[in-house]
Amino acid sequence: MIASVETTKPNETKPNETAAPIPGSKARALVERDQRVMAPAGRVYPLVVERGLGCEVWDVDGNRYLDMNAGIAVLAAGHSHPRMVQALQDQLTRFTHMAGTDFYNEPMIRAAEKLVSVMPAEQSWQIFFTNSGTEAVEASIKLARYVTGRQNIIGFYSAFHGRSYGSLSLTASKPHQRRGFFPLLPGVQHTFYPNCYRCPINLRYPDCSIACLDMIEKTLFQTTTPPSEVAAIVIEPIQGEGGYIIPPDGALRRLREICDRHGILLICDEVQSGVGRTGKMWAFEHEGVIPDIVASAKGLGGGIPVGAMIARQELAQRWVPGSHGSTYSGNSLACVAVLEVLSLVEETLMRNAAEVGAYLIERLHALQARIPQIGAMRGRGLMVGVEFIKDPATREPAPHLALSVMEEAFRRGLLVLTCGASTVRFCPPLVITKAEVDEGLEIFEAAINACL
Ligand SMILES: Cc1ncc(COP(=O)(O)O)c(C=O)c1O
Repeated sequence: MIASVETTKPNETKPNETAAPIPGSKARALVERDQRVMAPAGRVYPLVVERGLGCEVWDVDGNRYLDMNAGIAVLAAGHSHPRMVQALQDQLTRFTHMAGTDFYNEPMIRAAEKLVSVMPAEQSWQIFFTNSGTEAVEASIKLARYVTGRQNIIGFYSAFHGRSYGSLSLTASKPHQRRGFFPLLPGVQHTFYPNCYRCPINLRYPDCSIACLDMIEKTLFQTTTPPSEVAAIVIEPIQGEGGYIIPPDGALRRLREICDRHGILLICDEVQSGVGRTGKMWAFEHEGVIPDIVASAKGLGGGIPVGAMIARQELAQRWVPGSHGSTYSGNSLACVAVLEVLSLVEETLMRNAAEVGAYLIERLHALQARIPQIGAMRGRGLMVGVEFIKDPATREPAPHLALSVMEEAFRRGLLVLTCGASTVRFCPPLVITKAEVDEGLEIFEAAINACL
């Protein structure tokens, strides 16, 4: 007998009308138990969640929070969306798992058909399902090397692509992510990401003509890296962990041109920016560019661990049986989650991300006008970053301020997370309403004022 999908809320308190001090006694006890048995991780604040619904979560002590973090840009349909719960319950009663690289199953085929259908129609696509974003990137760079017969890969400073050896070799957002793990994959080179607020070569857009990207051809290809031996350029269409950095218009098109001139594959890592978050299915669509390979995860499963490498069919088809595989690839629960998320994103969530995202961005611009320590405000849909600085004249990053604001917001009932040097990101569930944005920003502003 299947439990009916529960949609009632535990209590009706407002985020900052908390039921107990934060962290409460139950949360503190669980944090202590966690520390005894869990390998050190890096939890940002002592939140121990008991339940979630939509954009709200309640901790084990009954405190309510507004979740504008969504499990780090994961919960596209919010916590416990009734349609997700129903789809997963239904699948659980049929079968749970049939190793998808060894056996056929219909949920996997349906999820792949759906995923292919939301890719640009100008190309045919094929899917390899993974368990995470890291593995989607890993599969992408393996395929790129395999089909081109070339070894080198170009990535970008401040990028985050995961923590396995291949993906970690591309990750370049914080030194502690790499410290102690060398040597990494040979053949990976990094170059400047077009970050106009902190131009790496001290120019100004649009007069610069995105000269930072010209360095690929004018410097890398002329010195260390013959283009004929480059398999792929890997880019996040919006840098996530690096600070929610949106490249200027034309950057992705420029990269596409460079790739085409030299027979290099363009891999877009859409793990954080994809699946409707920016108001389009994929962030690369804002520039009308079509990559050769796309890595997806996070929002794709709406909270169920799943990722995908999506490659042009003519590339994916070059793999022979056994070239790549994974026991959990195409897991049936993961695949019904993908199907349901993509349906919801197409039906309503992508539109909501564009509309409520524009509202969030507008309100944050107004906040920036009142607070000089907000140096930059960047956003596309519901992928929004607020960069804190010490002084508008120097633009020196203010990492302690960003951290304090995040912690203070938590104590007041708002979940946000930092990224980059000093940015607080907003990546809420795509079901968020304007009223919830108002509620969240009231707490955010109060938190900033308490920290200044
Ligand atoms: C752009 C990007 N790629 C890859 C990853 C790695 O994904 P996962 O943590 O699911 O392995 C992340 C995670 O934050 C990401 O933001």
